[in-house]
Amino acid sequence: MVKLLIHGPNRLSGELSVHGAKNSTLPLMAAALLCKSECVLHNCPHLSDVEVSARILRHLGCTVQWEGSSLVVDPRGVCQWDIPDALMREMRSSIVFLGAIVARTGRAVLSFPGGCELGPRPIDLHLHALRKMGVRIAEDYGCLSCSVDGSLRGAAIGLSFPSVGATENIMLAAVLAEGTTIVTNAAREPEICDLAMFLNRCGARIRGAGESTLVIEGVRQLHGCEHRVIPDRIVAATYMSAAAATGSAIILNHVIPAHLEPVMPAFEELGCSIEIKGGSLRIAAPRRMGRIKSVRTMPYPGFPTDAQAPLMAAACLGSGTSIFVENIFESRYKHVGELLRLGANIKVEGRVAVVEGVPRLSGAPVEAADLRGGAALVVAGLAARGDTEVTGLRYIDRGYENMERSLALLGADIRREYQ
Ligand code: EPZ
Repeated sequence: MVKLLIHGPNRLSGELSVHGAKNSTLPLMAAALLCKSECVLHNCPHLSDVEVSARILRHLGCTVQWEGSSLVVDPRGVCQWDIPDALMREMRSSIVFLGAIVARTGRAVLSFPGGCELGPRPIDLHLHALRKMGVRIAEDYGCLSCSVDGSLRGAAIGLSFPSVGATENIMLAAVLAEGTTIVTNAAREPEICDLAMFLNRCGARIRGAGESTLVIEGVRQLHGCEHRVIPDRIVAATYMSAAAATGSAIILNHVIPAHLEPVMPAFEELGCSIEIKGGSLRIAAPRRMGRIKSVRTMPYPGFPTDAQAPLMAAACLGSGTSIFVENIFESRYKHVGELLRLGANIKVEGRVAVVEGVPRLSGAPVEAADLRGGAALVVAGLAARGDTEVTGLRYIDRGYENMERSLALLGADIRREYQ
């Protein structure tokens, strides 16, 4: 059993570089399938989800090599069009490969991604869009069998919800389609802009990334390119939460401040001061935080659902009542039960979590049940008095590169123990 052992409370100090964004790296790896030559992705994080994506690309016939934090992907050997069930089950967001596999090979066979720790993960928006672009999709026995005669065709697609994954799948299917695809109510996340920038650098013609309407003119082919993955805004928000929870002042380097604007007001409401200098952010927390009137998770540029759990861990130590409303996923409060074990005072009613600040938390054994909930338990453990053991690290390792090493560099008493 692998676990993180944390002894707290500990003040943090110093500087930390934020690694590349998981949720940008994954669709970029899928996009490489569409290129006629080698792609180099710089600033890729060493995460288990990235490793799974590399295994998918190799299964399809690509070569994928790490060179430090750069991934070199050569898609010229693509000869498969299926993703094995085991790989689909390891990472539900493998669905983002669907559009690229169909666009590259004219067919795709994937098992249904199914639900995950956050509740059901439907893909109806993905499938509806691909069908509009001419893809025949049979859903039998938990398997998606897709095919298209000739090229995909451009279409006008209105998303009932600005789904990040659906927007990415449509972009990947549309860049080589015949004609123009117009997506209304598209997701506006920074990772969408990063994907559009990569694809345009490869010769695609995408306009409106970051806005609600995307226009993608199909082109005949894409060449490879070099691209630097944007920093991970959720990892940055997680370390900001760690500073807030422990009453610390730290500096985060290699961030894009604009991507953190949706979370800054919540930290300022807690009483933290935030200074921006170029690509660095300094956050300084008060000894005793205030409370956050309300945090409503929304699509970008609203408050990101992925930062809800880490911020909640910090708010547990505020003075007063903080209200969280989780509007994106059905079941994203699994960390609450474990935070209660550490002495937090939280009540959940449906999508609403009411956090009553407590003067202190006390260490205990806790278990992660999903990626960001696991990060929240680490944040709380840093501030808790005594020893906290965090298990379920397979979740945390999906999205945080060497979390314990990063936090130890900031002065936390934390180590990974292999038993
Ligand atoms: C992406 O997931 C991220 N994952 C998630 O990050 C993030 O929480 C989410 O976007 C929202 O920002 C990756 O980028 C790999 P959605 P995705 O499609 O694409 C519903 C993390 O912690 N929906 O925007 O799956 C869905 O059920 C992960 O890094 C449909 O109903 O998110 C959910 O309620 C967790 N039908 C909402 O939309 C569909 O066809 C948001 O989903 C698709 C989605």
